[in-house]
Amino acid sequence: HPSPLFANAADVDFSKMEHRERSQQVFAAVRQQLGKTYLPLINGEYVNTQQSIDSLNPSNPSEIIGKVGLLSVEQAEQAMQAAKTAFPAWKRTPASDRAKILRKAADLMEQRRAELSCWIVLEVGKPVREADAEVSEAIDFCRYYADEMERLDKGVNYDIPGENNRYHYQPRGIAVVISPWNFPLAIATGMTVAALVTGNCTLLKPAETSSVIAAKLAEILVDAGIPKGVFQYVPGKGSQVGAYFVNHPDTHLIAFTGSQEVGCRIYADAAILKPGQKHLKRVIAEMGGKNAIIVDESADLDQAVAGVVQSAFGYSGQKCSACSRVIVLEPIYETFIQRVAEAVRSLNIGAAELPSTQVGPVIDATAQARIKEYIEKGRAEAEVAVELSAPDTGYFIDPVVFSEVSPTATIAQEEIFGPVVAVIRVKDFAEAIAVANGTNYALTGGIYSRTPSHIDIAQQEFEVGNLYINRTITGAIVARQPFGGFKLSGVGSKAGGPDYLLQFLEPRHSTENI
Ligand code: SER
Repeated sequence: HPSPLFANAADVDFSKMEHRERSQQVFAAVRQQLGKTYLPLINGEYVNTQQSIDSLNPSNPSEIIGKVGLLSVEQAEQAMQAAKTAFPAWKRTPASDRAKILRKAADLMEQRRAELSCWIVLEVGKPVREADAEVSEAIDFCRYYADEMERLDKGVNYDIPGENNRYHYQPRGIAVVISPWNFPLAIATGMTVAALVTGNCTLLKPAETSSVIAAKLAEILVDAGIPKGVFQYVPGKGSQVGAYFVNHPDTHLIAFTGSQEVGCRIYADAAILKPGQKHLKRVIAEMGGKNAIIVDESADLDQAVAGVVQSAFGYSGQKCSACSRVIVLEPIYETFIQRVAEAVRSLNIGAAELPSTQVGPVIDATAQARIKEYIEKGRAEAEVAVELSAPDTGYFIDPVVFSEVSPTATIAQEEIFGPVVAVIRVKDFAEAIAVANGTNYALTGGIYSRTPSHIDIAQQEFEVGNLYINRTITGAIVARQPFGGFKLSGVGSKAGGPDYLLQFLEPRHSTENI
């Protein structure tokens, strides 16, 4: 499996004054465009809708980022028919031509990167640097999957004298992408372009709270030359339009990233054979995590404290990769708690667009209320080591560190998806590993240690899709840290890795007697 030479897009260097100034100018320009209407793209046309929703700025919900037209079920059916009509020609389009469209999309994203990151900041409340890194990730997905498709398109020859044996891949058909709001550009792009480059006609249904950014992705794909009906932007209610596509007999594949509850539902619904359906659906579901970092007595505490704080509170803990449990060995437990509390007290909380902000808001009022409930449960189950106070306007949550948390407490078992971290005390390393593995999830995990035998054990025994040693546990990079988990964290292979595209393809083989 090649790709060691893949060149990742570079993030903007905000230590340079010129880049900070440029970012301010672009914010001003983007602000001029707030409140516009974004319509679904069906068969190459933007279509009017009966219903729409307002997408709000989580840092300041009185600010409407855009109005998004929501597809009706009849329009969803039109989109499905357009996808079916477009499929035969897209299937026959050479892989290199499909790859070219992805590379063009990547170039357009490079050109628009400052603007795209402003939209991310304003629509989902992600701080500026993290939004910028997300644009890099989206660009990387386009370029990497373009390369990967060209690699796979070569197929495999198993020829022997007198017999040609050819192994090759074909697309599955119609792909439905259901993307999350927390990486509104990167994950939507990754799943969508993977489905497209492999030759599938693709319907993108973004999370309602990030439909404006998804509309920007739709613009970019159109500008990059994607044919009509091959890619369609189909914003709508998950319970209605999302469910319609999942249950549709003509859907071949569903690529989903989001909650465990919705992922399990999709998996179950997709398994039911519908009248007229002549295939079984493939489901790729990236779901949650209850990710732990183990800090042992040999850890470099400067590194561990900074790494835990960044992993737990980056994007307000709203990454499926975020750290939500810290498992600390007895000898350093008290010191660790004190130092983490100090580090958390120094975090800047504020509107996502302020350059100084480290912790912004959470996505919406529902999330805010849910996280607050967990914090109340935490107060009953554990001790508060530190709690900050967040601004009143906006969907902010006071970041909290709980200490003396039992490994079986609710806040140590359920995914909270907010700026809340549970610190668990253990007596030895064996117990640390057992506690780390004691949830339903297996996504990311980390260990801070300078003891080689502990690192070896973690590599063998720590049941996670992505293990990080002596570093933060978020921010996987395409083609360097292929990303994804198992157990109830998901089904399907790692995004940004060498097996990802295979899921969107059907392998075929032909033998010719010569
Ligand atoms: N890929 C992201 C990360 O690694 C999570 O979706 O943080």
